[in-house]
Amino acid sequence: MNYKRNIIITGGAGFIGNHVVRLFVNKYPDYKIINLDKLTYAGNLANLKDIEDKPNYKFVKMDICDFEGVYKLMQDEHVDGIIHLAAESHVDRSIKDPFTFAQTNVMGTLSMLQAAKLYWESLPEKWEGKRFYHISTDEVYGALELTDPQGIEPPFTTKASSGKHHLAYGSKFFTEDLKYQPHSPYSAAKASSDHFVRAFHDTYGMPTIVTNCSNNYGPYQFPEKLIPLFINNIRHRKPLPVYGKGENVRDWLYVEDHARAIDLIFHKGKVAETYNIGGFNEWKNIDIIKVVINTVDRLLGRKEGEDMDLITFVTDRAGHDMRYAIDSTKLQKELGWEPSLQFEEGIEKTVKWYLDNQAWMDNVTSGDYQRYYEEMYKGR
Ligand code: NAD
Ligand code: DAU
Repeated sequence: MNYKRNIIITGGAGFIGNHVVRLFVNKYPDYKIINLDKLTYAGNLANLKDIEDKPNYKFVKMDICDFEGVYKLMQDEHVDGIIHLAAESHVDRSIKDPFTFAQTNVMGTLSMLQAAKLYWESLPEKWEGKRFYHISTDEVYGALELTDPQGIEPPFTTKASSGKHHLAYGSKFFTEDLKYQPHSPYSAAKASSDHFVRAFHDTYGMPTIVTNCSNNYGPYQFPEKLIPLFINNIRHRKPLPVYGKGENVRDWLYVEDHARAIDLIFHKGKVAETYNIGGFNEWKNIDIIKVVINTVDRLLGRKEGEDMDLITFVTDRAGHDMRYAIDSTKLQKELGWEPSLQFEEGIEKTVKWYLDNQAWMDNVTSGDYQRYYEEMYKGR
């Protein structure tokens, strides 16, 4: 079959990637979606069980740093769009092993860019109809100051932001024109990759787009990140390691809302632009942890709050960024995106998903998920 578009999504077996792959495969049956993923510890094909047999979906196990392999794949599949999510994504790991982050996030992105450049430049129509969309993080902007919470009037109303919890912990927000000031090896590597993407537009004319999103939460997140780790620990009554005093603020967005934004920006975003993605939803870690404890307790039929004593304050993360807060006005105003869920709904759905999918969690924590690929794809 001739597809209308042939799109590579990198990192499609990871947390955000699987939601983006699922959305595109289901919404666009006339697009071929090629999930290019190395299947590191963070990649799990079981995340995509429900769509793996769809005719417009193909999985390719490949390292984004394998320039020759990536270039050949682009040629073989006549790729005209790239949505690049593959990365090392966990700040704590970057503190222990910065080299892997530079290799994957910087060199891997460069390998994707250069392969796309060589392939697209070799075609008669060159850049026309092509798009290289790079998914990045708000952490590249550094950290914002922390003040007492204040009610804010965001420049627009969203279903998510009209909820009960609507506070800002400072008067400054991350806007697209802010200078990059990354602090961790993770965010330094992501910042560098963003610069390379823009350089490929400015130098060669490649049609690129960059987006910087806030913390995502939702189903299929690897349980080394705050929310799934804590849900699982509460279930098993294990200590909850809260870094420092739990005062740090993060701006949380439901992962499917991020995937919807990616779809919109891939199709309607302006070339060479940057868009920030976030739902004006700031929470102190300690407050979100209390909400998670209450929700898990209630859904498990325990007395709400009975697991509060699992909270254990531990040594702070080195260089721990104090506050992230995204201003997504540009995306809202120019492309009409808004988050669909209030945080209270999103967290309820998320906790319920992890409790209902204990087999998925056990598979990940036992390491069994890494054998899924061999079983599913042998002989293919
Ligand atoms: P994740 O760690 O859950 O998944 C990363 C995926 O990339 C995995 O499937 C992994 O196997 C794959 N991968 C890693 N190295 C690879 C390589 N060398 N070649 C091919 N595949 C490789 O990450 P995530 O949380 O889903 O984040 C996805 C992207 O979104 C990242 O670029 C991250 O910086 C960005 N982001 C994440 C968040 C968040 O809250 N999770 C927020 C904003 C931006
Ligand atoms: O802001 C976007 C970023 O959000 C993404 O770019 C990253 O890929 C993603 O991992 C996330 O980074 P954080 O470092 O904010 O997420 P994490 O879940 O690791 O931590 C959230 C907050 O909770 C942070 O302030 C550290 C704290 N924390 C985390 C863990 C894992 C704890 O207190 N204890 C923990 O055990």
